[in-house]
Amino acid sequence: MRRGKYFTSAVAVVALVFAAALVAIAVDKGPDVMSIKAGLWPTPTKAPVEFTHKKHYEDHKIACADCHHVYKDGKNVWKEGDPVEKCEKCHTEPTIQGEKKLPPDQQKLNLKIAFHDNCQGCHQKLKKENPETKAPVTCAQCHPAQKP
Ligand code: HEC
Ligand code: HEC
Ligand code: HEC
Ligand code: HEC
Repeated sequence: MRRGKYFTSAVAVVALVFAAALVAIAVDKGPDVMSIKAGLWPTPTKAPVEFTHKKHYEDHKIACADCHHVYKDGKNVWKEGDPVEKCEKCHTEPTIQGEKKLPPDQQKLNLKIAFHDNCQGCHQKLKKENPETKAPVTCAQCHPAQKP
């Protein structure tokens, strides 16, 4: 039957388009582990910071949007599947000493404050709830001694 043949190829085309779309929307989850070393600071004082990225979203069940954001009208509109920019792309204020004395709008975009409020902020809350937590909270736990 003629209609049947057209129908079959139409189904094949739809299936192909669908398969291509699935490949296109496969979410980029970034590296499993990373060594955070931003390029923003002219004179970094610390060694790179180890970060178990995948463990955070898989084992510790932290939502991507707890760490990744794009603000629009004061709301985080970033959702899984959207592109991910490095923190320093937006947090471009490089002061690493006396950064808490900056005007409030500059503090918001200070990179050191962004990392500390995110990482240390969450870990300190965990520590309050559970003193046995393995989440690092002290400077030295996140910042190992600088290799000579
Ligand atoms: C606990 C915080 C946290 C969670 C949860 C998290 N990420 Fe990330 N992610 C980061 C940090 C920090 C970086 C490194 C950013 C930088 O180098 O400036 C990163 C990097 C990435 C990158 C690479 C960006 C680049 O250009 O280097 C991608 C992609 C990414 N994350 C996707 C995801 C997705 C998808 C999820 C959820 C399944 C997720 N992340 C969950 C903190 C997190
Ligand atoms: C696309 C730009 C952009 C990127 C990329 C970005 N931020 Fe932000 N972030 C902002 C803006 C803008 C604000 C201020 C929002 C407001 O006005 O309160 C902010 C606020 C914050 C805050 C304080 C408010 C809150 O939500 O707790 C923290 C902490 C923070 N960012 C950490 C990070 C970290 C860590 C990364 C990388 C994983 C990152 N940001 C990537 C734009 C960005
Ligand atoms: C929203 C909460 C949250 C944020 C944000 C977060 N963490 Fe964690 N982190 C956790 C939890 C939960 C654990 C596991 C605690 C435990 O096992 O007792 C953890 C554990 C860790 C560990 C120990 C290894 C592991 O994965 O068990 C390291 C290292 C670590 N975090 C680094 C970071 C760094 C660096 C950042 C910022 C880029 C960050 N974390 C941001 C919640 C968070
Ligand atoms: C939960 C993890 C965590 C804790 C705890 C923490 N930091 Fe950080 N800190 C980071 C991350 C991640 C960065 C960004 C690292 C990079 O890009 O080099 C950072 C950046 C910095 C920087 C700027 C980068 C540089 O190399 O100079 C300084 C200074 C710093 N931290 C000092 C401290 C001090 C002092 C303490 C304790 C009061 C502390 N940090 C506690 C995670 C942490």
